[in-house]
Amino acid sequence: MLTRRFVLQAAGASAVVIGAGASAYAVLSPSVASAQEPWLRAGQRFGDPRLDALAFAILAPNPHNRQPWLIRLEGNDELQVFCQLDRRLPRTDPLDRQIVIGFGAFLELLRMAAAKEGIAADITPFPEGAPVGRLDSRPVARVRFTAAGAAADPLFAEVLRRRTVRKPFSPEVPAEQTLAGIFAEDATGFSSGGERHAALREICLEGWAVEHAYAPTRAESTTLTRIGAAEVVANPDGIALYGAPIEAARLAGPLSRTAMDSPGSWAHGQVETFYSKAIESSPVFGWLLGRGDSQVERLDAGRRWLRLHLAATREGLGFQPLSQALQEFAPMAPLLDRVHALLAPEGERVHGLFRLGFASSPPPAPRWQLETRLIEAT
Ligand SMILES: Cc1cc2nc3c(=O)[nH]c(=O)nc-3n(C[C@H](O)[C@H](O)[C@H](O)COP(=O)(O)O)c2cc1C
Repeated sequence: MLTRRFVLQAAGASAVVIGAGASAYAVLSPSVASAQEPWLRAGQRFGDPRLDALAFAILAPNPHNRQPWLIRLEGNDELQVFCQLDRRLPRTDPLDRQIVIGFGAFLELLRMAAAKEGIAADITPFPEGAPVGRLDSRPVARVRFTAAGAAADPLFAEVLRRRTVRKPFSPEVPAEQTLAGIFAEDATGFSSGGERHAALREICLEGWAVEHAYAPTRAESTTLTRIGAAEVVANPDGIALYGAPIEAARLAGPLSRTAMDSPGSWAHGQVETFYSKAIESSPVFGWLLGRGDSQVERLDAGRRWLRLHLAATREGLGFQPLSQALQEFAPMAPLLDRVHALLAPEGERVHGLFRLGFASSPPPAPRWQLETRLIEAT
């Protein structure tokens, strides 16, 4: 009797054991190495310090791994960063708030990578004005590199080890002192027990249930899911599912985008359980507030977000954003209110909600090669 189980690996994290199909599909897992190559190229010399720094910046955390950045090198020491507008997430991120946070993380990584070489990256956000609504074709930032003797940032040591960890965490609660070190900055916080922890757990679970039940948001994520190594390599972005059991489930039929998007199907149920189990296992929830929600405040939230994630990495802690309850599409409104009542009584904007804990690290997430993100000077 063949064992009738597949293991769904999400973003490299062995996660859910699912019962269907047959292990007769003993498929040797094809490689996704080329999709991970940008992690190996960071640190190499490209003959231009801007490219050397950009090779790190493209490794920034960003929503749905869309990597929406486009870069134009200008003159000898400047560059401009633009958003590829069709890589935004209009359903889950209707205001582009999360996309701009990803740009904030990108710019902070760029700054840190330049500083490592003693170069100051002088960042001007939205040099042609900040869009009042959603992003447009104007630049998100202009960056000037100057040999101004910038000091290296100790957190830079964690950049290549940073991962978004989606597997369940062990029940072990990290030491209070460790957590206080990670969440040392103003307008951040954490909860590792008690009523607030329980309330956040409920909010995150409900937020996930809402996002996954609502057809437009579910479809947005499903469309961006790459199933199997060939799809991941062809489009090294989005939500990457790969590994031998994934190839087997794909070939056998139960795992497809259509099935994932069909409530009641096996694949839909697996996705549902995969994410809720991760939330349920969280010994710690953390958060990041901003004074408001302007484009510049979003960029700053992205800068601080990256630093929280790197600090968690330094402490050997897994880190996963849980953004559902912070999203602005209509059915989420009651939860968005609840999370603000709980964490931001003085009218701040909650820009980030995270879970932290102990788990082994997954492989690096796919990235487009740097060359594909460069655009010609006009
Ligand atoms: C603003 C923002 C929101 C995110 N929200 C989520 C989320 O809700 N759930 C999740 O699993 N990952 C979330 N992520 C993490 C991205 O999916 C992740 O950064 C991307 O897939 C690349 O993977 P990496 O961080 O391992 O490089 C978010 C990242 C950013 C910057």
